[in-house]
Amino acid sequence: MCGIVGYVGERSAERVVIDGLRRLEYRGYDSAGVALVHEGTLVGDKKAGKLANLVKALDETPLPETTTGIGHTRWATHGPPTDGNAHPHLGTERRVGVVHNGIIENFAHLRGELEAEGVTMSSDTDTEVAAHLLEREVRGGATLTQAMQAVCRRLEGAFTLVAVDAEDADRVVAARRNSPLVVGVGQGENFLASDVAAFIEHTRDALELGQDQVVTITAEGVEVTDFDGVAVEPTAFHVDWDLSAAEKDGFDWFMRKEIFEQPRAIADSLLGRHDEAGRLQLDELRMSVEDLRSVDKIIITACGTAFYAGLVAKYAIEHWTRIPCEVELAHEFRYRDPILTRDTLVVAISQSGETADTLMAIRHAREQHSKVLAICNTNGATIPRESDAVIYTHAGPEIGVASTKGFMTQLIACYLLGLYLAQVRGTKYAEEIRDVVEELAQMPDRVATMLERCDEVYELARELEDAGSVLFLGRHAGFPVALEGALKLKELAYIHAEGFAAGELKHGPIALIEKDLPVFCVIPPRGRDFLHDKMLSGIQEVRARGARTIVVVEEGDDTVVPYADTIIRIPVSSTLLQPLAAVVPLQLFACELATVKGHDVDQPRNLAKSVTVE
Ligand code: M6R
Repeated sequence: MCGIVGYVGERSAERVVIDGLRRLEYRGYDSAGVALVHEGTLVGDKKAGKLANLVKALDETPLPETTTGIGHTRWATHGPPTDGNAHPHLGTERRVGVVHNGIIENFAHLRGELEAEGVTMSSDTDTEVAAHLLEREVRGGATLTQAMQAVCRRLEGAFTLVAVDAEDADRVVAARRNSPLVVGVGQGENFLASDVAAFIEHTRDALELGQDQVVTITAEGVEVTDFDGVAVEPTAFHVDWDLSAAEKDGFDWFMRKEIFEQPRAIADSLLGRHDEAGRLQLDELRMSVEDLRSVDKIIITACGTAFYAGLVAKYAIEHWTRIPCEVELAHEFRYRDPILTRDTLVVAISQSGETADTLMAIRHAREQHSKVLAICNTNGATIPRESDAVIYTHAGPEIGVASTKGFMTQLIACYLLGLYLAQVRGTKYAEEIRDVVEELAQMPDRVATMLERCDEVYELARELEDAGSVLFLGRHAGFPVALEGALKLKELAYIHAEGFAAGELKHGPIALIEKDLPVFCVIPPRGRDFLHDKMLSGIQEVRARGARTIVVVEEGDDTVVPYADTIIRIPVSSTLLQPLAAVVPLQLFACELATVKGHDVDQPRNLAKSVTVE
């Protein structure tokens, strides 16, 4: 939530900061602002609404050329999205400017203290207290770096702060606690941002920062300390994707581009993780075979789409390993006092690796001495760094707020984990594991087949433009697919959508069925116990009550034809891997329906890409 950029170097700071904010706008888009250091003063502007409003204002009233600056794109927490609450916030004398991501939990106390000293607040935000506190320190003679260290020692909560001092044009200073911040290392210039996408066009060399660290960038260098001023050595990394991955490439939306990138994302996520004989090799896991053998329970924890990936994983992991597997929403996890032991493996799934709810869940698990394994798409993010082990998904940057290739590669990572555990613990024969690995290797082609059929899904979306409600039914591994289809539609098309386990219908939800209500039905492959036939009964039940049935079913299965108003064919796959193909039309449907409704698909209302507040 909230995107932050800081720059010092030789280029136009305004241009670098605005371009960086454009790439971070997926993190929040309620308001945006910049502050630049110019001849001993701070100049800048901030506007409610999307970044475009700020850019328009800057075009109409240009700022002077400067080479040091900060910027922010906001997802509101304290105070509504107005010009006044937009960041940056300045101290009373307009000497220090600061942008912030996170929540300063003791801000009310600090605000009271400042007001008692005669400071008048000009916004409703928690951030403004940091601006006044920093300014008080520099006016007392501290450097901005020392001021940041001193102020951070007093702050509680989660924060990334990036600040400039009008009287010190050579440096930008930042700090982080429980909120993302990376440094971009250039030649004669350096960058600070919430995410490497902000500076990827200038440099792919980056530094990760640990918790409770302060970083000072100048044109010549980078210095990192802890909050007490003790020097710290940051970890360097090289970003393995480039600017083109962060561009739309001719697609109208990042989301659509990312849906179409899924075959490649699956292939990349499988690459190097098995040998030719189908033996899994997850050397990167950093967990010993002994530790994996002693696991007696798995708890998967995640939020939103990542949680649904976890629900699919449960079916596969329990089937392949016979280890009991629970799936828990991360924000509920620690509050129910879960039973965790040294032999519990907690698997945290997070595309961003920064989701605060998931982070807090894994901290709780580690305090109870359970091992934590992260499945994450973002190199060096907080969740993998605070985990004992990590499987990175190789989806490349996901910019669209609605997760698509993130979900797809989370499923791949979960399958790999399940198979690896089965291999290590001997719960499946090598040939059985090899068969699944071979099928996984075919999934990029199967997903590509689904993408080739996009036009029929788009046509359906256009037909259903005025639908006020859509239901999704599934069973077994198709149930989480139904939930994911409904979530995509809610977040993008802003209409009522719900996913159900088809067997649950008759216990209540069937009352929702009325004439012409669109109901997507994800049909399990034929031959899986009685599942397939039970699902057919479910479709008949809703159709008998007037629903319009849209049936997602494997090629060659004609048993559904009499009960389907629309048929979407998917390539034949095994029950456990079918979600990889079945989810694609649901993603395409939501993307297109939101497009025809005129919504901003990449930046749906009220949402942000990574939710870094609890
Ligand atoms: O970055 P994470 O995977 O931890 O994010 C979890 C959810 O916030 C995320 O999947 C969210 O539900 C998406 N907007 C769904 O499309």
